[in-house]
Amino acid sequence: MDTSAEGPAAGPRYLLGFDTAALDNRECDVLVVGSGIAGLVAALQASRFAHVLLVTKRDVSQTNTWYAQGGIAGAVGETDSVELHLSDTLVVGQGLCEPEVVGAVVGEARDALRDLVALGVSFDHSRNGRVALAREGGHSLPRVLHSGDATGAQVQDTLSGVVRGSHAIEVLEDAFLVDLLLSEDGSCRGALVLEPGATRPTAVWAGATVLATGGSGQVYRVTTNPRIATGDGIAAAWRAGAELADMEFMQFHPTALDSAASPKFLITEALRGDGAYLLDCEEHRFMLGVHPLAELAPRDVVSREIEKVMARCGRPNVWLDARHLGAEHLAQRFPTIWQTCLDAGYDLSRDLLPVAPAAHYMVGGVFVDVDGRSTIPGLFASGEVSASGLHGANRLASNSLLEGLVFSRRIARVLERERPKSQAVRVTGEGPTGVPGAPGPARAAIQQTMSTFVGMTRTGAGLRAAADELAAIAASLGGPGPNVDAMEARNMVTVAGLITHAALYRRESRGTHFRSDFPTRDDKQWRARLGWTRGASEPRQIAVGVAPEAGAVAFGLE
Ligand code: SIN
Repeated sequence: MDTSAEGPAAGPRYLLGFDTAALDNRECDVLVVGSGIAGLVAALQASRFAHVLLVTKRDVSQTNTWYAQGGIAGAVGETDSVELHLSDTLVVGQGLCEPEVVGAVVGEARDALRDLVALGVSFDHSRNGRVALAREGGHSLPRVLHSGDATGAQVQDTLSGVVRGSHAIEVLEDAFLVDLLLSEDGSCRGALVLEPGATRPTAVWAGATVLATGGSGQVYRVTTNPRIATGDGIAAAWRAGAELADMEFMQFHPTALDSAASPKFLITEALRGDGAYLLDCEEHRFMLGVHPLAELAPRDVVSREIEKVMARCGRPNVWLDARHLGAEHLAQRFPTIWQTCLDAGYDLSRDLLPVAPAAHYMVGGVFVDVDGRSTIPGLFASGEVSASGLHGANRLASNSLLEGLVFSRRIARVLERERPKSQAVRVTGEGPTGVPGAPGPARAAIQQTMSTFVGMTRTGAGLRAAADELAAIAASLGGPGPNVDAMEARNMVTVAGLITHAALYRRESRGTHFRSDFPTRDDKQWRARLGWTRGASEPRQIAVGVAPEAGAVAFGLE
């Protein structure tokens, strides 16, 4: 491997200066940070045997999970199998999935989904009474359980209700994760949390800490992620010395509604699964000759092709054509999209819809093993904040809610065996100093830099320019103080820098990472995941297990 790229800056260890001896304290057995599917399931499962504190940045329901439209993948169909789900995941992951992890997740899907239904989540059924399954990109058959086009909201609302009704779970809303607290032996003992209205953080002591803080799409200007998705968990884990992995892989969803709105409104892949087409400026179906699955090719393939077509046509969008699906079907199967498009002036049964790719899902994050353990004892991670090896270089559609669901169950099983208890220790730390910079302009500058240089198509020169710009933005931030906007900006610049440096380091193209100066996949040099730890000048090469990518033959990919 070429190792000439410079590593990411370590940055400050803490966001704020503190001495825990002078702070208010809380104690719990299990601290869960984040309230999407991963956080809620971790809290619910752990509450069977532990006192759980669930900390979330806004209210319990404001999460990336809530925005998920498509659904949850699971091999529950009559003609489906765990082996086929595994194979599709491996093919889309382009040689970087960890097969043991994929096997564990797709193998546990049926049980995990059954438990979700038992908690009250309802999925659509077809007329014959069987659960209805949608098809999405990269899947070789319909496999996605869904609730109309608002599956995430259905899951979120149901699980939030159960959590709120639990006596064993204490919920702390509008509370911001500042930093992780480690004892001298390097174990995680909890976290510093800024509670609403407070001017200094609270020390939360926990036997185990589960990060479920979601993604970081907000580091891009054009994203489907809500404003809260600022990579706080990844940044806090980095500062604490946890290993991060797969940071170069940010997935762009092919079809977000091209409008002035921010974040961009997602147009689920299930619409293409139902037969909608992608058209170029001459109204030709441009995906037909590109991939055997046409509009349902893996997401990286479709997004990159759209980018090419937009450049060829000189337009900021391509067109999604769902007219032939009919008003009745569209309004009934995709009610949220139907109404949102009408509100934006598009009647899907008569109009072509302008769509364009948008940053959607962070594949990289906190490196964890098959049971969600990070490299820091006592610290676990589940869902989008983690890098479990499930997704490889490109996530299979609708595997993300499944990952959070299954990993949080696995983490809870470990905690049930180990029954960790909290132990307060004294920790002191110094934050960055200097006059606080303006977080708003810094945030916009980070987003602009990332979208310009670290988007779907990358070059060494562009990535170096991005690294320089991000370093300048970081330097301008000063000491953030107990201000959430400023701490978010600091987290964003950290995560953006990590994505940029990992992208600079990987001198090949694979999955969501495309370098026009190294446009091909190079298994000889680069079939390894990159693990980054603060203070180390080089990433660790994480070998992945070998498993046949059987579906590759069927898709004609190799
Ligand atoms: C979609 O509905 O297209 C998004 C689902 C996902 O990101 O997996």
